[in-house]
Amino acid sequence: MDLSLAAMLLRRGELVAIPTETVYGLAANALDAAAVEKIFAAKGRPRTSPLIVHVDSIGMARSLAADWPPAAEALARRFWPGPLTLVVRKRAAIPDIATAGLPTVALRMPAHPIALELIRACGFPLAAPSANPFTELSPTTAEHVRQALGDRVAMVVDGGACPVGIESAVVSVAGATPVLLRPGSISRERIEEVVGPLGEFVSTGGADPSPGMHRRHYSPRTPLYLGDPPPEGRGVWLYRERAREGGIRMPSDAEGYAARLYETLRELDLRGADWIAVEPPPDEPEWEAVRDRLTRAAER
Ligand code: TXA
Ligand code: MG
Repeated sequence: MDLSLAAMLLRRGELVAIPTETVYGLAANALDAAAVEKIFAAKGRPRTSPLIVHVDSIGMARSLAADWPPAAEALARRFWPGPLTLVVRKRAAIPDIATAGLPTVALRMPAHPIALELIRACGFPLAAPSANPFTELSPTTAEHVRQALGDRVAMVVDGGACPVGIESAVVSVAGATPVLLRPGSISRERIEEVVGPLGEFVSTGGADPSPGMHRRHYSPRTPLYLGDPPPEGRGVWLYRERAREGGIRMPSDAEGYAARLYETLRELDLRGADWIAVEPPPDEPEWEAVRDRLTRAAER
């Protein structure tokens, strides 16, 4: 794929939607405050929500970090490129708007050939949140991005469907003990195999430490119930094991389920039902990220 146009637009400070292995991102030059500003405007995202900065290598990550602790190095070596974001103390090159004024920056090297090639072609890191309007479902195809934000971006790079389907795990390694801020497809257990037991998240007040932790997030428009729906109205089920008439059957493994989740919720939204009811996923470690997203989607 020829990425020279996308790279040129990014160099000029424009927004370009890009595929990653998790979800599509709304990208801008992370070192250009005016370009990053456009991301917040296009998404309607509060300025208190810091962005993820995408890099093409551990070297680029280190050049943006004021401090690169052993836990960051170990996790990056084990899981990059891949769906893991590391929060570290930032250098001044990262403008404050990208981090919502926080002294830390979230860094991730995506495992998508197009995203990596584009960062390389640009020569600078790309700030990119998920390419959806604030609180809505993250896009897993280029078509989703065009529908929701098509008129607000200079270009949408089509890389097909995102294989992982839910957002990266976010781990802060900026404090004494690594903390999981947002679960992802790389399970807590696999992260702990590398850095030992993860600490508990403690809110420090001030700027929003992790907007992915907003209770309501990742929501379809139709009210979603985890478990039994209300008795009234007409609805549709998303099930795994217990078949329901007219419902949609989901894969029985967590990985397959995550890959289909957002796309399926979008499809269900289009049916204009009164509710979506979801058969609760198993209470097992590998389902933590799917449970997290569904719990947030069920918040009202
Ligand atoms: O998979 C992904 O992570 C996707 C793709 C595009 O890479 N991006 C994504 O970005 O989901 P976004 O903006 O929707 O989520 C950013 C997450 C939030 O949970 C936010 O709290 C956390 O990263 N985050 C960013 N900077 C942070 C910081 N300095 N400290 C703590 N958390 C931070
Ligand atoms: Mg998001």
